[in-house]
Amino acid sequence: MAKKNKKYDICVVGAGHVGLIAAVGFAKLGHKVICADNDKKKIEQLRRGKPVFYEPELQDLLKKVKGKNNLRFSNSLADAAKRSEVIFIAVGTPPLADGSADLASIESVARTIADNLNSYKLIVGKSTVPVQTGQKIKEVINRYKKNSVPFDIASNPEFLREGKAIYDFFHPDRIVLGVESKRAEKVLRDIYRDIKTKVIVTDIAAAEIIKHASNSFLATKISFVNAVARVCDKAGADIKSVAAAMGLDKRIGKSFLNAGVGFGGFCFPKDVEAFIYIAKRLGYEFDFLKEVRNVNIKQPGYFVEKIKEHLWILKNKKIAVLGLSFKPDTDDMRFSPAISIVNNLVKEGASLTLYDPQGIDEAKKVLKKSTKIKFAKDSYQAAKNCDCLCVLTEWEEFKKINLKKIKSNMNYPLLADGRNIFDKNKVTKLGFSYLGIGR
Ligand SMILES: NC(=O)c1ccc[n+]([C@@H]2O[C@H](COP(=O)([O-])OP(=O)(O)OC[C@H]3O[C@@H](n4cnc5c(N)ncnc54)[C@H](O)[C@@H]3O)[C@@H](O)[C@H]2O)c1
Repeated sequence: MAKKNKKYDICVVGAGHVGLIAAVGFAKLGHKVICADNDKKKIEQLRRGKPVFYEPELQDLLKKVKGKNNLRFSNSLADAAKRSEVIFIAVGTPPLADGSADLASIESVARTIADNLNSYKLIVGKSTVPVQTGQKIKEVINRYKKNSVPFDIASNPEFLREGKAIYDFFHPDRIVLGVESKRAEKVLRDIYRDIKTKVIVTDIAAAEIIKHASNSFLATKISFVNAVARVCDKAGADIKSVAAAMGLDKRIGKSFLNAGVGFGGFCFPKDVEAFIYIAKRLGYEFDFLKEVRNVNIKQPGYFVEKIKEHLWILKNKKIAVLGLSFKPDTDDMRFSPAISIVNNLVKEGASLTLYDPQGIDEAKKVLKKSTKIKFAKDSYQAAKNCDCLCVLTEWEEFKKINLKKIKSNMNYPLLADGRNIFDKNKVTKLGFSYLGIGR
């Protein structure tokens, strides 16, 4: 039995957006953490105290916990697993071409754990995985383990938001623990003891479904409001007023009701796909979610069409794009709607100048190289001589932009607000032609 205030030897596998935050968070809670990743460059950089992606507050917290010797980084999962009682798996589960989650990294981690099962271990899935993955992890470990040392598996899905990840780690709305034994529950409750929130204990399958269902529901809210925005566009109504009034109904809630160019990132698109896929494999055709996906896939194209309708010919038009990351306060470009909007505009023959407060390096990696694309050092440089200013991410910096100054630099003052962040009346008074989504 774990004693009160016991600190655990924890291994977090995966030093990405989830794993690194969890590793730093557990270390801050006083546990001894080894964060293991098979990417040597990442580990070297982290050993030097440098985060491998942009996330507010991460750099400072990393420094603090390293200073207390509560966190170290390793390339050897085998070694880290042997030294740990609890192993959180936070590796990537990217989408395969058929929409299913690629679970090869999960299997490989499970095999390494099986090879190094030198004492009781609790193996906890933190990655987002299809229901029944926990059982598969158990089967793999039982198949490959070399002794009869006992182990438990559990699921502890992660709900953090990139850009607010540190805050969310310490202030989650709930902690979900999918467990099969009292021992696993006790260890996990102990680890999270100092985080004051509701703890929901379920079986492993329910915990896995809670994550997929939660993300799919949030994606549904976004696609729903985007569909309503289409009706608003046709009817000449403003989706901002519609959504604001809807959101005041407590049964609906105001979050995730912002119409825009659609959802992106490493979670919603792939989790919706993976949920559709696993439901089908289990015998249920999740047509409802397919429509959520379809609405989202069409949103970037709809936005480009609106610009095209206004400017008529996009060939050789200069377009400034502000905001590339899939949401503010992160440099994460994975599945960002900006990718397809930029590709679309380039295909139309426009010349683009792109700017993002943090995402330019990542954008350079994911956008197709083109002589039509340049990067700017700030919004004002991007807007110089352009025929249209597109805003694709709701960074605070863009909300505070000096629109008068921007306009004086533009060739033609068209403001295409892909996130509906500007006051339509104000910008129109300033002399802009304004295009929003659903307004
Ligand atoms: N990013 C988010 O906002 C978020 C939020 C909640 C849940 N999730 C889920 O968490 C999981 C991880 O997402 P992420 O955004 O942190 O991904 P990520 O790509 O940022 O990080 C994954 C890390 O795992 C490492 N890795 C892959 N295979 C490995 C192996 N065999 N051994 C050791 N390390 C390995 C990679 O090198 C990488 O550093 C995914 O399932 C994701 O759906 C993500």
